[in-house]
Amino acid sequence: MEQNQKPHTVALFTEVAPKYEFLNAVMTAGLDRRWRQSMLNICESALGRRPDSALDLATGTGDVARMMATRWPNTKVVGTDPTAAMLVVAKNKAGLPKTPLAFRRIEWREGVAERIDVPNESVDVVTIAFGFRNVAEAQRQKAAEEALRVLRPGGVFAILELGLPRAKILRGVYRFLLRYGMPRFAGLFAPRAAYDYLAQSILDFPMPENVKKMLSRAGFLAFAPRPMSSGMTWLYLGKKPNRDV
Ligand SMILES: C[S@@+](CC[C@H](N)C(=O)[O-])C[C@H]1O[C@@H](n2cnc3c(N)ncnc32)[C@H](O)[C@@H]1O
Repeated sequence: MEQNQKPHTVALFTEVAPKYEFLNAVMTAGLDRRWRQSMLNICESALGRRPDSALDLATGTGDVARMMATRWPNTKVVGTDPTAAMLVVAKNKAGLPKTPLAFRRIEWREGVAERIDVPNESVDVVTIAFGFRNVAEAQRQKAAEEALRVLRPGGVFAILELGLPRAKILRGVYRFLLRYGMPRFAGLFAPRAAYDYLAQSILDFPMPENVKKMLSRAGFLAFAPRPMSSGMTWLYLGKKPNRDV
């Protein structure tokens, strides 16, 4: 990828990379791993089988790609992300002497979600976990269309994204924590400005119904958005229609 095509968040994620997984685990009390596992369970059910090939966009330090490689031993797994520093952490983890051999099969590449460097109709499952809100707003529809292009008919696209709880009281508390608590806490370990931006990007993310509409506009059969942990996180799922539909 050429330098001038890099998304504006690359510098931010370069600073955050060394502490990213630690801060995720602490700030979600370990729920983040459960959310990713649930996403993969649901992808497998919606596909109706294990995928032959899977692509994790915005893979970051590679958590989802490693989960895919572990649970689907015969699947070709590719993880892409525009931030080289995040991919360095992913590659280092996959290459450690004691890590499962499954991790070494993962292919890591630099790339953005709105321009996927993968042939048409070549993948069964495409995921993007906590990365869709980092795709520039004007590019999100294009990213959904790109996921549709690379999926085989019947393939599944899953967006896992932080959001706001449905219950009003919880939502108020959560908003407050996002604005003031989260950046202050994360700022003890990583640049605070990065977490100010991340918190704001959660607050600015479209309502679940609008994400579903975007998937439909791209050509997916869009499922009802599914809240996890009272709506702290949402799963959006689209299935590429089969040719005979
Ligand atoms: C919060 S991290 C998520 C990492 C990982 N998927 C996870 O589950 O923890 C967001 C990632 O989105 C990536 N990103 C930013 N802009 C992007 C874009 N336009 N396309 C794809 N990924 C992007 C960042 O580099 C970063 O690694």
